[in-house]
Amino acid sequence: MSEIKLFEEINDVNKILNEIDSDRILVILDSNINSLYLDLIDAREGIEIYIAPAGEDCKNISEVERACEFFIEKGIHRGAHLVAIGGGACSDFAGLVATLLLRGIKWSVIPTTLLSMIDASIGGKVAVNSKFGKNLIGAFHLPEKIYICAKFLETLAEEDFISGLGELAKYYFLDEQVFNLINNEASFEEITLRCAKYKQEIVEQDFKEGGIRKVLNLGHTLGHAIEKVYELPHGVAVYWGLKLIFNIFHRDEESEFLNQFSGIFGLDALMCPWEDSLPVEEMMSYIAKDKKVVSRNAIEVILPNGIGAPSIQTISLDDLRQHLLDYANGKGTTKDFIKKIKVPSSKSFANRALILAATYPQDVQLINMPESTDVVNMLSCLESIGLTIEKADDGIIIRGSFPECEIETDDVIELYSGDGGTTNRFIIPLLALGKNKYSLIPSEKMFERPMDELANVLNDLDAIVTRDENTWFQVQGPVSISRGVYEVDCSRSTQFATGLAMALSPRDIDVEPVNLTTSRPYWDMTLNLIERFKNGEQVFEVPVDFSSLGYPLAYACLTGPVLVENCKGIDRFQADSKFIGLLEELGGQFDFTANGFLFNGMDNLNGFEMDCRDCPDLIPTLCFLASYADGATIIRSVEVLIHKESDRLNAVMDLMKLYDIEHHYHEEEDYLEVIGTKPDGRSVDIVPPRDHRMVMVSYLYQLVNGGGNLENKDCVEKSFPNFFEVIA
Ligand SMILES: NC(=O)c1ccc[n+]([C@@H]2O[C@H](COP(=O)([O-])OP(=O)(O)OC[C@H]3O[C@@H](n4cnc5c(N)ncnc54)[C@H](O)[C@@H]3O)[C@@H](O)[C@H]2O)c1
Repeated sequence: MSEIKLFEEINDVNKILNEIDSDRILVILDSNINSLYLDLIDAREGIEIYIAPAGEDCKNISEVERACEFFIEKGIHRGAHLVAIGGGACSDFAGLVATLLLRGIKWSVIPTTLLSMIDASIGGKVAVNSKFGKNLIGAFHLPEKIYICAKFLETLAEEDFISGLGELAKYYFLDEQVFNLINNEASFEEITLRCAKYKQEIVEQDFKEGGIRKVLNLGHTLGHAIEKVYELPHGVAVYWGLKLIFNIFHRDEESEFLNQFSGIFGLDALMCPWEDSLPVEEMMSYIAKDKKVVSRNAIEVILPNGIGAPSIQTISLDDLRQHLLDYANGKGTTKDFIKKIKVPSSKSFANRALILAATYPQDVQLINMPESTDVVNMLSCLESIGLTIEKADDGIIIRGSFPECEIETDDVIELYSGDGGTTNRFIIPLLALGKNKYSLIPSEKMFERPMDELANVLNDLDAIVTRDENTWFQVQGPVSISRGVYEVDCSRSTQFATGLAMALSPRDIDVEPVNLTTSRPYWDMTLNLIERFKNGEQVFEVPVDFSSLGYPLAYACLTGPVLVENCKGIDRFQADSKFIGLLEELGGQFDFTANGFLFNGMDNLNGFEMDCRDCPDLIPTLCFLASYADGATIIRSVEVLIHKESDRLNAVMDLMKLYDIEHHYHEEEDYLEVIGTKPDGRSVDIVPPRDHRMVMVSYLYQLVNGGGNLENKDCVEKSFPNFFEVIA
């Protein structure tokens, strides 16, 4: 990493050049510095000086060629050391020359503007401009040393000094130490040194700007567009970029801090460039080309959460435009603007309805079907056993019924059933009504999950069940049944009783779940659907999936309102709908409007207590919420998580460890205690288990912190295929 040093007197530049360990010193000097500081450099053997056009005028490829040829002609070798003396433009240009000469020689910087002392000279990004845009021709090449002398600032033009202050305002939010130094009227030496060191610390963590380094772009997303539209100096545009972003995202506290900063440095007298009207579309045309655009329709913006806690958030360009328009039209607050989303519908409901549709004789239309792999697998299994499935408006129609649709064959029919508990455990009792031999071929994870309860009850009903090392689960019926009540052990899952109850329901056989300690609401959902099929209903609208809804709602608790357009009401049969009750208890406000479910977010998020006996899928999401709530949270009945698609209990604790969230699992009483904190803006690379819920919750942590790389993203296909688009 580069070494940052302070020096006191401008005359010391000669001493610095003499101390550099090279017999060939190549100086690139900004022409304004050359005219202002006459005799700055003593001519001596071994030093060559190239006077570069002042400021931005040097940042072009022809000038790079000229400088390279100049030094090559004078004679250079691989031990030569280049020194840039000037502002950010000069160091950007000189750094690129150092990168190219002999494929890279060492270089150092003596920054002479405020902006270059606190920012541009640090971090090794070197570039010149192309006719198509700024800094498009460049490289990463760290300077060896950065020598800072605040006395250079005395000759800086006011406009250039203000430009540096704009960039300084960014550090005021990024780093608590800079915030305190400025508020306590520390000297410019101290302030510039701390800013430089802060940037250095960030660059050390993330040299190539894959994660945390992006926080240095605070104020730049809108700042770059403002710079273009109003042709303002870079730092001044960053200052207005900060003002605007705080306004449009309703960051009142941060706006107050920025006013405080402006008061200290006299920036409150600056004229706001968009006094009359904000040119939203023109700005959007520049924003859409910004390097922070991460997909065709989304961009990363940096938002502070108070002081010293920046977060990287992804927002769709449409949403950003709407924020700007609302501000331009005088509505002015994010609270007025609402993110609109659609979440997947319930696979629990859909897979139950599919089995019942296959069992009952009437044609059945299902509307608002989820795209989850569990449902896709169920549909393909049903087609393989003879049912007809047709596409219809906004859903599907299922024709035929089982076992009437069964084809005659002595062959074993193989069914690829995936890793869904509902798919495998619901379809097996249905298959046991038929005559053929059906062999289920699930994906690997299903091998570890309990199935004995179902095998036992089907054996008792005289179905032939084969389970050995070559066969995961083969069943051949038909079951012999007489009227009565069949008991099924549900201590490990209600899905066994649910599958059997649905298959036997047309024959008026009752199934009694025994040891039903969890998932009572899911059992009630089964009974309610059976009742509706018995009554001859033929059209069913699949409600939204409340487990999936938890993720955007939890995120909205920290970021602002959301409208869930396809949520028409609370489906109490889905235990995870308890999350809505929790948000209400915590002071969250919501409303069912004609356009969907409107959740207004939270003003304050406090710690809470919740027993998740019947809603274990919510636990990772609750841990996320608890991580950023004020105070302690207690989440009870969590041990069951160990038996999910992954060991979610340990996975979620590992995740909290990654973010230094204090937590403790009290094994005997089976509860998890989490102590909330603030997001810390760190970029963290995460390798969650191949489990959709762990991948989604990991992403929430990354979103409210400093991003990072996330593995196993494809797992979201299981329940929330467009999760990443929706959440952005
Ligand atoms: N590489 C990075 O990480 C990074 C970060 C931020 C900005 N930048 C780049 O920095 C450049 C802006 O830098 P800047 O604000 O320092 O402007 P600058 O280098 O263009 O200098 C502004 C003006 O000040 C003059 N000047 C420099 N030092 C002086 C002094 N002590 N006294 C009097 N005049 C002086 C220059 O000749 C110029 O006319 C832009 O090109 C921007 O892209 C780079």
